Amino acid sequence: MDISSILQGGYQHPVSRAWQSPRQLTKSMLMYPIFITDDPDAAEEMTTLPGQRRWGINKLEGFIGPLMKKGLKSVILFGVPMKAQKDPKGTLADDPNGPVILAIKKLRSLFPDLFIACDVCLCEYTSHGHCGILHEDGTINTPPSVERIAEVAVNYARAGAHCVAPSDMMDGRIKFIKQGLMDASLANKCTLMAYSAKFASALYGPFRDAVMSAPSFGDRKCYQLPPAAKGLARRAILRDAAEGADIIMVKPSLPYLDIIADAAQLAPDHPTACYQVSGEFAMVHAGARAGVYDLKTMAFETVNSMVRAGAGIILTYFTPDFLDWLDE
Ligand code: PBG
Ligand code: ZN
Repeated sequence: MDISSILQGGYQHPVSRAWQSPRQLTKSMLMYPIFITDDPDAAEEMTTLPGQRRWGINKLEGFIGPLMKKGLKSVILFGVPMKAQKDPKGTLADDPNGPVILAIKKLRSLFPDLFIACDVCLCEYTSHGHCGILHEDGTINTPPSVERIAEVAVNYARAGAHCVAPSDMMDGRIKFIKQGLMDASLANKCTLMAYSAKFASALYGPFRDAVMSAPSFGDRKCYQLPPAAKGLARRAILRDAAEGADIIMVKPSLPYLDIIADAAQLAPDHPTACYQVSGEFAMVHAGARAGVYDLKTMAFETVNSMVRAGAGIILTYFTPDFLDWLDE
């Protein structure tokens, strides 16, 4: 055998195996998506997202406190109005007494060290369930959509969000949000994380069940990217970086590792984030339940693949598990 054939000497021990990963998963890379509803005492389990709940703001201390002790650094908030009436403009999104604004304020006062991001979109709040404002024929009306989305983002920043993360995929919204933050003198106080390459995926089902945001007609294919569209994804990444994004995100993650690698290469001076979405989380759980693999081993394999592709920030429902597993 040739000398150059021998690789195994380099990874024969757990310590030398770790040295073969230039970057390793750490707790500070994890951002935990949490759902806040308008019943202040809620702690409702969601069958499609194992272990995740819709929380009321009175439950946040008991829910987040123990995670902070384990090393939680950041969360991203999703509002889930259950009682209030939705309208075509998504007025509830930035309701000063709505779950997201109240949760930002509560979390800031309870946990001064926690980094609080907010998903910005209209679909959880619109009567039609689409992510923007519509023309009469049901197509997206872009100018009022980006204006409304920027208004919501600025109101989250005003309430104290450290980061706003628009997931709507309307053209031009990054620039509008950045300008809105500048006009409100908040551009230096709030990070803008763009869901830049967000694909029209089959993997959002459990999330849409959880927050009841499925569109009442049609689909999201005219704003979320076609799954095979590498070129469009690359253009969206470059566009959002040029429009003022501070962080570039790719979503979903596992079927889009090439796009994560593209983002890291196209915007090398921006942090690269990826979202291990609800369907990916449910899939890892379902496979483990079916005996296909061990849950923890597979969870690490998926997230390590994202780190390997170039992600430095990972949004995942496995965050509480990783906070335990990374201590073992
Ligand atoms: C809303 C939004 C979605 C997700 C994050 N923000 C759903 C969608 O676009 O339909 C998906 C998150 C997940 O599946 O975990 N625009
Ligand atoms: Zn949406």
